[in-house]
Amino acid sequence: MTEFIVNYKIQISESVEKLSEQFAQLLIDKINKSKNNFNIALSGGTTPKNIFEYLAAHHQNTIGWHKVKFFWGDERCVPPTDSESNYKMAYESLLSRLQIPASNIFRIRGENDPQYEVTEYSEIVKKQLTQINSIPKIDLIILGLGEDGHTASIFPNQKNLLDSDKIYATAVHPETGQKRITLTGKVINNASTIVFIVTGKNKAQVVDEIINQKDNYKNYPASFIQPHNGELYWLLDKSAASQI
Ligand code: 6PG
Repeated sequence: MTEFIVNYKIQISESVEKLSEQFAQLLIDKINKSKNNFNIALSGGTTPKNIFEYLAAHHQNTIGWHKVKFFWGDERCVPPTDSESNYKMAYESLLSRLQIPASNIFRIRGENDPQYEVTEYSEIVKKQLTQINSIPKIDLIILGLGEDGHTASIFPNQKNLLDSDKIYATAVHPETGQKRITLTGKVINNASTIVFIVTGKNKAQVVDEIINQKDNYKNYPASFIQPHNGELYWLLDKSAASQI
């Protein structure tokens, strides 16, 4: 995969709260306009927690949540009760507060054997989503960004996952050795809308390198996220945008 990001919209917000409202307006635009179900793949890590809590507190009734089916872009191979669980974070900060029916929540079972769960979950996603060129088409994917340029759980030393023909694959966090399950690059880039949500000064350098295609950007998996036939947004707080 040699394409680098070329076509995207950047929105820089004064605060995480203002960024959350920007994201809410994007969801209102996309979800409320959709005729049928709207499927979203959530990201993990720490950044989304504040944004999810804001949505649950301020947009219970303004967004057509009843249409939304929730999936995950990646998960840590831990039980759903573990503090590392992306599902746990999303459930506590958003899904439980919106009373989303369990039938609309498709979590990655991090407690299962990773290889077994990759197969199982890929089948679930294939069944639930329409496919374009036999690749599932996700309506909206939320992505985070690591200081090392990783996104979802596609790390710089596993960039082969950007080209994989699998839907989900296993991965290993290069520092912690933690096992992960992640969407692959082709499925991510097949989405209708991709939204990077990035906050904090510690991300400013990697954001600058990727957006301005300089220094190590070719080493960063996030540099290769560009929807073939969709929209790409970078929602940044002013700290994360401080070097671009
Ligand atoms: C995960 C994520 C990962 C995350 C980045 C940023 O499971 O960790 O999906 O891609 O988005 O690591 O993490 P922070 O938001 O904690 O900085």
